[in-house]
Amino acid sequence: SGTEANNLAIMGLAKASRGRRKIIVSQIEHLSVKFPAERLQEHGFKLVEIPVDEEGFIDLDHLADQVDDNTLMVSIAAVNHEIGVIQDLRAIAEVVKDKSPEAIIHTDACDALGRIPLDLEHAGIDMASFSGHKIFAPKGVGALYVREGVKLEPILHGQLSSQRLWPGAENIPAIAGFTRALEIFGKNFDEYRSRMRRLRDMLIDGIFERVDDVVLNGPRGDRRAPDNVNMSFLYCEGEALTVELSLRGVYVSSGSACTSRTLEPSHVLLAIRRPYEVAHGSILMKVSPMHDEKDIEYVLEQMPEAVKRLRAISPKVVM
Ligand SMILES: Cc1ncc(COP(=O)(O)O)c(C=O)c1O
Repeated sequence: SGTEANNLAIMGLAKASRGRRKIIVSQIEHLSVKFPAERLQEHGFKLVEIPVDEEGFIDLDHLADQVDDNTLMVSIAAVNHEIGVIQDLRAIAEVVKDKSPEAIIHTDACDALGRIPLDLEHAGIDMASFSGHKIFAPKGVGALYVREGVKLEPILHGQLSSQRLWPGAENIPAIAGFTRALEIFGKNFDEYRSRMRRLRDMLIDGIFERVDDVVLNGPRGDRRAPDNVNMSFLYCEGEALTVELSLRGVYVSSGSACTSRTLEPSHVLLAIRRPYEVAHGSILMKVSPMHDEKDIEYVLEQMPEAVKRLRAISPKVVM
C-alpha cells in the first residue's frame, strides 16, 4: 500500500543510515509520512517540519536553511492529499542537492499518480511512493520507486522477495490489477486529466455561485490537482454536511479522508492557517474520470439545500 511504501522509504532509509540523523518533512504530509518520521525521534533522529504558505506551498528559503550535512532525507508530497497543492519537486530537489548532494529526496506521490505528469529522474527525486486505489486498482497494493544506488534496509522480517526489501509472498492479483490500472491511466492520461480539471472547476465555480460564505482550501488552476475540491462551509459542521449529503446520494468526506475518524481539525488545514471553525467546516470532494457533467450538476443542485438546512439549525448563525 501507499502507507507501506512511505514507511519503507523512511524507516528503511533510517535503518540503513550510518551517520546522518536529520529528517525533513513538510508540515502537511500524510500521516503515513508524518508518523514514521515522528517515531524516528525515539531513535535519535532529529525531525524538522517545513512550514507552508496559505495555499500550501513549501517555504523554499526555510528548506534551504534547514538542509545540511546531517540531513538524511527530505520527504515532501508531490500532491497534497487534502488540499491538492502541487509542489515544484524540481525546485525542491535543486535546493536540497545544492546544500547537500548526498541527502535523499523522497516524495509521497500517491495523490499525484494519474493526475499530474511525473518525471522523477528529471526532477532529481530518489524515492517515490504510490498507492493502487488512487487509480482504482485494488486497495492494499502500492509501490516504492527507489533510484539505483539508494540503500534501504527491510523493515519487516521474513523470507525476502526478489527485490530483497519486502518479505512474504507477493499479492499477485492485486499487483496485476495495479499494473492494468496503470496501463489504462497511462493510455488515457491527457483525456482523463482535462476531464477531471473541467469537472473540478465546474464544481468549484458552481458552489461559489450558489452558496455564500464558502472558502476554497488550496490553490486554483494548474497548481492544484485536477481531481481535488476542498471547501469550507462557514457555520456548518463538515461532519454534519457529509451525512446530509450522503442522504442525498452525494458521498464526500469531512476534513481529510484519512484523519476524519478523529474530530480534531486536520493538521493540513491548520498549517495553511485556517481558523479552527473554518477547518471544521471543510469537506473534501474528488472528481474522477468516471464522473461526467450530469454528476456535477446533481451535486450543485443538492449542495445549496444541504448547506441551507444545516445553517438553519446551526447555533453560530446570527439571524
Ligand atoms: C498522499 C497519500 N499518501 C499515502 C496514502 C496511503 O495510501 P494507502 O491507502 O494505499 O495506504 C494516501 C491515502 O490513501 C494518500 O492520499
